[in-house]
Amino acid sequence: MSSINYSEKIPNNVNLSEDRTLQRALEQWQPNFINWWDDMGPEGSTDMDVYLRTAVSVDPQGWASFGHVKMRDYRWGIFMNPGDAERTIHFGDHKGEKAWDSVPGEHRANLRRIIVTQGDTEPASVEQQRHLGNTAPSMYDLRNLFQINVEEGRHLWAMVYLLHKHFGRDGREEAEALLERRSGDQNNPRILGAFNEATPDWLSFFMFTYFTDRDGKFQLCALAESAFDPLARTTKFMLTEEAHHMFVGESGISRVIQRTAQKMNELKTDDVQTLRNAGVIDLPTIQRYINFHFSVTIDLFGADESSNAATFYSSGLKGRYEEGKRVDDHVLKGQTYRVLEAKNGQLVEKEVPMLNALNEVLRDDYITDSVAGVNRWNKVLEKAGIPTRLSVPHKAFHRNIGALKGVKVAPDGRVVSEAEWKANVDHWLPSGGDRAFVASLMGRVVEPGQFANWIAPPVMGINRQPVDFEYVRFN
Ligand SMILES: [Fe+2]
Ligand SMILES: [Fe+2]
Repeated sequence: MSSINYSEKIPNNVNLSEDRTLQRALEQWQPNFINWWDDMGPEGSTDMDVYLRTAVSVDPQGWASFGHVKMRDYRWGIFMNPGDAERTIHFGDHKGEKAWDSVPGEHRANLRRIIVTQGDTEPASVEQQRHLGNTAPSMYDLRNLFQINVEEGRHLWAMVYLLHKHFGRDGREEAEALLERRSGDQNNPRILGAFNEATPDWLSFFMFTYFTDRDGKFQLCALAESAFDPLARTTKFMLTEEAHHMFVGESGISRVIQRTAQKMNELKTDDVQTLRNAGVIDLPTIQRYINFHFSVTIDLFGADESSNAATFYSSGLKGRYEEGKRVDDHVLKGQTYRVLEAKNGQLVEKEVPMLNALNEVLRDDYITDSVAGVNRWNKVLEKAGIPTRLSVPHKAFHRNIGALKGVKVAPDGRVVSEAEWKANVDHWLPSGGDRAFVASLMGRVVEPGQFANWIAPPVMGINRQPVDFEYVRFN
């Protein structure tokens, strides 16, 4: 039996060293977690020392400690943001009542489902990304990939903590099952669609961390409003790590665009084949990757009309994005919201009860947020004097959930015929040829300070280290 020195091995602020029940549950689970990491974590990384930040407290000034560590020895910790003993519930039918320190019996099943669904995405993304280290465009990028991987591991710990602490035997079984499902597995897949897609190349990885980790941000923000206080505090702290994941995506795509723009100016061309021959990723391909990752990710918010969403809100389990900053009654009864449907070959809006449309509300907030970053990418093009602009597709494009599921819609929002879809799909979504081309660029560049030809170096290194710092020691 492994014995764990709790405060050393598992940095925490949940009083782990005094909590025998929690210790026992974690002692059972932790070896299985390590087995999962060895099987499904970053391929071939066991001997590498990686310059990683570790969360060691929740103090905003000092929570991160940086140093070279082996990933399987990473100190996956358990943290919650500081609590407020007086906190009251600020939305839904229990508005004004005291927030819950433990799980009310009537909400147990729903809360467990919410936590398991969130928890499942964390190891899923590690599995999706496990081969990417073999084709890293630089040592800097390799380190960022590994940082994200260990932090998704920590996010899994955060959800497992809640399951172990508050859901007894059921919670322990769910925690085990989180280590058993596998991304993309036919028989035992991860719960949500986007987390079963492959992340085969670094363009996909940067798109994933920009778009899909941002879905994570919005889900965590909604849960950070929860009446179940331990969930609210746990997810608030997870958000501090999520910010870095989205930074990796946004700056990664930005550097790809910068490099492409540079070649376009150098060669004075926007000809796709010429640019591909020069070893950079043409803008139409980047646009198609955006179309794919955006559409797959907005499906994650669920059906546009959902009675579960209404229940989760009214019972106080899950709020809206920035619930506390909104000026309405925070109960939403009798209010309406507009959702889209396809009618007679056109997209039309219809008004539905707001409570049932809360998935759509969160999706729309997400869309606003993701468009902002795309505009920052366009600034890179603008600065380079290139007239092309990137954009997110219409939200009805390529949807696979809710009222728009399967409706054929062009990126500009026109409902199109099956024939028009077929004729254009390779202009709208990455084709086999696009993916093969991007794959052909994926070599491994890992000498300090060196970068693959298709991506510009970053402006700054990590934690004020130089760009050519030895972020990974291969041993
Ligand atoms: Fe995460
Ligand atoms: Fe993340």
